[in-house]
Amino acid sequence: MATFPQQLPSTGPAREALRQKGQFWTPDWIADAMVCYVIAGGHTTLFDPAVGAGVFFRAAKRLGNKAGRTIDLQGTELDPDALEEARQTGLTELDLANVAITDFVLHPPNGVYEAIVANPPYIRHHRLTSQVKEQLKALALSMIGKVLDGRSGYHIYFLLRALQRLEKGGRLAFIMPADTCEGVFAATLWKWIARSFCLDAVVTFAPHASPFPNVDTNAMIFFIRNAEPRSEFLWVKCNRRDSDALKTWVLSGFTVNDSPDLEIHVRDLSEGTTTGLSRAPLEENGDPTLGDFATVLRGIATGANEFFFLTRKQAEDLGIPEGFLIRAIGRTRDVFGELLSIQDIEALDAKGRPTRLFSPDGRSLHDFPSAVQEYLKQGEALRLMERPLISTRKPWYKMEVRSAPPFLFAYLGRRNARFIRNYAGVVPLTCLLCVYPRNNDPIFIDRLWEVLRNPETVNNLIHVGKSYGDGAIKVEPRSLEKLRLPKGLIDATGLELHPTTRQFGLSLG
Ligand SMILES: C[S@@+](CC[C@H](N)C(=O)[O-])C[C@H]1O[C@@H](n2cnc3c(N)ncnc32)[C@H](O)[C@@H]1O
Repeated sequence: MATFPQQLPSTGPAREALRQKGQFWTPDWIADAMVCYVIAGGHTTLFDPAVGAGVFFRAAKRLGNKAGRTIDLQGTELDPDALEEARQTGLTELDLANVAITDFVLHPPNGVYEAIVANPPYIRHHRLTSQVKEQLKALALSMIGKVLDGRSGYHIYFLLRALQRLEKGGRLAFIMPADTCEGVFAATLWKWIARSFCLDAVVTFAPHASPFPNVDTNAMIFFIRNAEPRSEFLWVKCNRRDSDALKTWVLSGFTVNDSPDLEIHVRDLSEGTTTGLSRAPLEENGDPTLGDFATVLRGIATGANEFFFLTRKQAEDLGIPEGFLIRAIGRTRDVFGELLSIQDIEALDAKGRPTRLFSPDGRSLHDFPSAVQEYLKQGEALRLMERPLISTRKPWYKMEVRSAPPFLFAYLGRRNARFIRNYAGVVPLTCLLCVYPRNNDPIFIDRLWEVLRNPETVNNLIHVGKSYGDGAIKVEPRSLEKLRLPKGLIDATGLELHPTTRQFGLSLG
């Protein structure tokens, strides 16, 4: 007998199989709220493009029975075994009679639907074949008039296909990962949705209220109608798991909320799509951004750390001259606090951690000292030049060059996304970002450091990061440049804008 709620294997092949198929079931308290929305207004047919174990069908039967209505159930599902699980959890052959076994994105049924509800499979782009990616590109092009960035996962195309099949006046409720509004493709996607449909509401969840507690994804619900767009939408933060408040609020037509479990804001649509729909509203307050004071670059991508990133002892044993070695840091965990000193690098050396980036330039092989030649020949024997990133370099061993940045940024973490003062003069590999002040004056750098390490600045990271289920965030270089630096702090430290960057807080007239 299948179990509800779903018991998730935490690791191993069983978990991997779930990931590959995107089989994470929606909990009932969420399914109820979503189904309430799509069948409001008297809709009697419910379509779920990714039926799985049938959570939404069961919610529709439950809610239909209560209201004395029969809801006609329709859907698609790729995996017949998932439907077997649906049977075991109480759905009948009749309930499942109109579920087609097909790929909803690539081979959808012909109809249009008045009520579409889904938890689409969250299949990230790197699990998709290039042939499928081409078909997905063509779908976006035909609907939006543009292709979406190649990093959009399958769930994004589920949403597109479902919007294409949403009847005029119809309603759609999708539960999706926050990357739907945070990925590089998000601006194009949401501009199109915002001008073509009516976004009624967006529901987000506090980390402790996550609908999928053991999955590192930050879920959100979108309530969308095929109707004239409006300039405002409701943005909700749900603060308690298993609460009835969400369903009650949806049932009231988004009017009644007397529950402390929901925080509700009326937001301007263009503000929401610019800030990112997963993020709380952010008022324009004239604060400058990090980009006004510094530029941000990712760390060095070697393409083969095991070959290019050496311990001091390995480098000595190989006899590689100092001139071809650069002090580097290869993982965030090697930096303990907010300062990184030469003593810290020596301590890593003593522990046998790699700290030397082997960094050949672009000269011909025979122009290197003999120890370097020997080592590069070992790399050739390993056929490193055939690896994806390395094969784009000419010659294959020519390492990227970065000067040592005064600040590093640990961009991924639960509570430890943070700036680091780089007193050790290291360059980071891709585990950290490089932050280069626009002015090399030591006083400017010291003042900028006082601003960057301040908790008020660090708190602003949630406005630019991509969020994951358990409160973790990830910040990309371009987004970090948009980090707001509180003007009060800037004034207090006496930090001044570099003359070539834009002015802030200047009132004209
Ligand atoms: C995240 S689960 C959600 C299932 C269920 N509706 C729920 O909310 O619990 C997604 C389901 O989509 C199915 N699926 C994956 N790819 C699909 C595709 N291309 N077309 C239709 N269904 C697909 C998976 O087998 C899985 O059962």
